[in-house]
Amino acid sequence: MTSWVFYQGKIVPEEEVSISIRCKAFNYGLGCFEGIRAYWDEEGQQLYGFRLKEHYERLLESCKALYMDIPYTVQELCDFTVELLRKNNFKTTTYIRPVVYKGSNSLTPTLKDEDNRLVIYCQPLGSYSGKTELKVAVSSWRRITDNMIPPRTKATGGYLNSALASLEVLQNGFDEAIFLTQDGKVCEGPGENIFLVKKGKLVTPPLSDDILEGITRDTVMTLAREELGMEVVERSVSRTELYNAQEVFFSGTAMEVTAVVEVDRRKVGTGKEGEVCKKLRDMFFDVATGKNEKYKGYGTAVY
Ligand SMILES: Cc1ncc(COP(=O)(O)O)c(C=O)c1O
Repeated sequence: MTSWVFYQGKIVPEEEVSISIRCKAFNYGLGCFEGIRAYWDEEGQQLYGFRLKEHYERLLESCKALYMDIPYTVQELCDFTVELLRKNNFKTTTYIRPVVYKGSNSLTPTLKDEDNRLVIYCQPLGSYSGKTELKVAVSSWRRITDNMIPPRTKATGGYLNSALASLEVLQNGFDEAIFLTQDGKVCEGPGENIFLVKKGKLVTPPLSDDILEGITRDTVMTLAREELGMEVVERSVSRTELYNAQEVFFSGTAMEVTAVVEVDRRKVGTGKEGEVCKKLRDMFFDVATGKNEKYKGYGTAVY
């Protein structure tokens, strides 16, 4: 079956798109991207693009910061995505990857070239980690900072930092890494935000601690406040707070809402997925699959 992708304003077969070995995006990592999911609701036979608007707003903000402007509005990008999902006829939960990159083949690593390109591809994606409970470790690799490679821009080159941290902890027998910031505060995972439950409150690092402003993070905070009546606190977190939290969990488009049951070989809480994480995870899936009327606006129906 043909895999269709969006490239430079058109939907075309994937094999028609290629990049040169001289391309700046390949040589210097000059690009930025998004990771979006569309959730399949088996009961209603419908596919819902999850918070498309927020993802494309974030992409355009990244483009602005990185001098990678593309000539599309948020609404146009949402429409292209729906069209692409329809064209691929996906009837399963799907991952959508828009990438904006410098297409120029000239030698200098500059952002000045105007040759900005957009490609969007998608593929079915179920559980990302394949696990519901994760054993994690703090990586010895520190997070890149806003004044190096700004994490909030989802810059392609910045994911070398994520890859180094993931590899280190995987080789040491853990499922996922936790980054500390340059000054030693808990930051985020290589591709996910982090939450702690402490004395009944939900705690998460603030945007100024070099995290990506996660859309799942925002969803989790909204659900905790609105549906569980919890106080949500954005503040810097120290490493050892992870060890003594009642619960720790990750949030992210790929990782969804997933419990962390061990940090640096110390059991978190009961050593099982906690109650708050479970409630938020269940609610998250209801919202994402269009089953919660109150949050219907988060989903864009594809069919
Ligand atoms: C470094 C990083 N942090 C956090 C997240 C979670 O963000 P979101 O919930 O918008 O997917 C991601 C994934 O996009 C990420 O790559």
